[in-house]
Amino acid sequence: MRTTELESYLAARRQMVQAALEESLPAEDSYPPAIHRAMRYSLFAGGKRLRPILVLAAGEAVGSPVEPLLPAACAVELIHTYSLIHDDLPAMDNDDYRRGRLTCHKVFGEAIALLAGDALLTRAFAVLSQDQPGLNPARTLQAIAELAAAAGSQGLIGGQVVDMEAEGKPATLEVVNYIHAHKTGSLIRACLRLGGILGGGNEEQLAVLTRYGEALGLAFQITDDILDVVGDFQSMGKKGGVDAARGKATYPACLGLEVARRLARELCLEAQGLVRNLGSAADPLFHLAGYVLNRQG
Ligand code: IPE
Ligand code: IPE
Ligand code: MG
Ligand code: MG
Ligand code: MG
Repeated sequence: MRTTELESYLAARRQMVQAALEESLPAEDSYPPAIHRAMRYSLFAGGKRLRPILVLAAGEAVGSPVEPLLPAACAVELIHTYSLIHDDLPAMDNDDYRRGRLTCHKVFGEAIALLAGDALLTRAFAVLSQDQPGLNPARTLQAIAELAAAAGSQGLIGGQVVDMEAEGKPATLEVVNYIHAHKTGSLIRACLRLGGILGGGNEEQLAVLTRYGEALGLAFQITDDILDVVGDFQSMGKKGGVDAARGKATYPACLGLEVARRLARELCLEAQGLVRNLGSAADPLFHLAGYVLNRQG
């Protein structure tokens, strides 16, 4: 798979995910329209769709067809979008732009933004728990449990809590590691595991996918921190320079840009080395690690 092949892989997968996401929410004018408009505004604002594509690529790596994995792919993107809406609220990061447009609370108000986040989170589990042809219900049950744990107070939410607590304080590497592994790493790790579990992977394959997800998840948040320092609004769709202004615990703040860059590179190389063991079906995962490292937005 070459760079151009990765691009067409990403485009094809994004299109599938987009169509499935369309089906995953009530129509904009469904009663009460205020909430459905806000949910759709944030979900369809763009976004790389990296997490749902990781679910699909992990399933493919263990030999699964893509179609049965689409509800799980949608579920992780619904949770991710909820986490962004809440992350941007004045009570948290207080950001005005996301995915190239005004944040949900700027357009719909804080109360609706809170509820839109809640509704996306709840919807994720409704979508994931649907009985799906081609899926074993016992595996679906395991996927539900794993996603709930990854999104909860010892996963994504735990990371967000420590992120808030660490603001304005000198950050230790231990704390930054916890924040990143949880606020971002937990969900990315779960994407890999969900694809592997629902795709029928064996224990050995799941262990590889899990470690790949951990390395990629950490690398992903380190590159997010780096882009906050060096990235531009056009590519990121959100304002840069905000982490330093808020005294956020980030890798560049802790270790400097160069060391942070080196670490991200090492983690992506580690992730690539791991999935080599899964053979050519894992080619997309291999190249996705390069994409995460080199992304501009
Ligand atoms: C942004 O995630 C929030 C983080 C966890 C760093 P993405 O960079 O994947 O955002 P979208 O989905 O492409 O908008
Ligand atoms: C967000 O991390 C993580 C979650 C939403 C769970 P950041 O606060 O660094 O994300 P951005 O930079 O606002 O996208
Ligand atoms: Mg944040
Ligand atoms: Mg933020
Ligand atoms: Mg950030």
